[in-house]
Amino acid sequence: MTADSITLIKPDDWHVHLRDGEMLKQVAPYTARQFARAIIMPNLVPPVTTTAMAVDYRRRILAATRDYPDFQPLMTAYLTDDIDYEDLIKGHQQGVFTAAKLYPAGATTNSCHGVTDIKNIFPALEAMQKQGMPLLVHGEVVDNDIDIFDREACFIDTVLQPLLKDMPELKVVFEHITTQDAADFVMSAGDNIAATITAHHLQINRNDMLVGGIKPHYYCLPVAKRELHRQALRQAATSGHKKFFLGTDTAPHAVGDKESACGCAGIFTAPHAIEHYAQVFEEENALNQLETFASINGPNFYGLPINKDRITLIKESQHVSEIVGNNDLSLSPFKAGETLVWQLHSD
Ligand code: DOR
Ligand code: ZN
Repeated sequence: MTADSITLIKPDDWHVHLRDGEMLKQVAPYTARQFARAIIMPNLVPPVTTTAMAVDYRRRILAATRDYPDFQPLMTAYLTDDIDYEDLIKGHQQGVFTAAKLYPAGATTNSCHGVTDIKNIFPALEAMQKQGMPLLVHGEVVDNDIDIFDREACFIDTVLQPLLKDMPELKVVFEHITTQDAADFVMSAGDNIAATITAHHLQINRNDMLVGGIKPHYYCLPVAKRELHRQALRQAATSGHKKFFLGTDTAPHAVGDKESACGCAGIFTAPHAIEHYAQVFEEENALNQLETFASINGPNFYGLPINKDRITLIKESQHVSEIVGNNDLSLSPFKAGETLVWQLHSD
């Protein structure tokens, strides 16, 4: 399919880091401009662990996105070894928590309060299974003796499969999958298992990050893998299969924190998220599947209504800014300085 413009049901972003304070004010409008809803990650400092904290955080997000009054942030709880699961379930029943996020302790940014052993949160997971409350997983093991490129595949074998044996009805979103192993696992699992796929893992492999000089702005977790995995992700995303949907994992860090001897993990894709995905789908000759991936599979999995609004993308090239924001909060958007093929039409 070739086209000069495409109109889609307004998409949702099922995995977003909006941060807090000045950073929140700076980045949230990018997401709210393109997406009707977004699943908000809870890895703040301190993390969002209670219903009351989520209510407050949601209020700050709504203030930061007041120019987009229809934007709906969907809140998540950060699971800890001693999570108060009665509060968690109450928060879900009250419509505050859409889902809960599992960070294995030490796996990524602000995960130090995460779960040290999945068994520690079994009471919470059992309650979530009963409620139909989705568990969102950062699927990487943290053992020092496991190579960083193998950590996702190892998580499937050592954590996810055993967990699903114990809790076969638990609804799980395997977040930001990066390997063929993960795509295959999701396909072979029951209908209660789905996955998000980021725009950057569809576009870059580990060579892009490491060949010809190290590119800190391509460093994220899970780290980009070899090309065969990127190809498997592109196939999964563009297949239209109901188990795969859009989740950018946009994760802003100030330029100084990325371009550092110990650079932070995270790629800031929010400014042109839907346009990055459109480019991939066009390259794969699958623009006709973009709406399914971006706007339909997610709400169907979460049991939420499909959006009524529409967006239009036009085929008109645009330049990605080198830097957005200012002073110590300047950010380098994904594909900074490059040219994009698609452009979100703003009314
Ligand atoms: O690259 C990442 N950045 N991966 C994560 O899991 C967390 C995120 C962040 O919060 O910066
Ligand atoms: Zn994330």
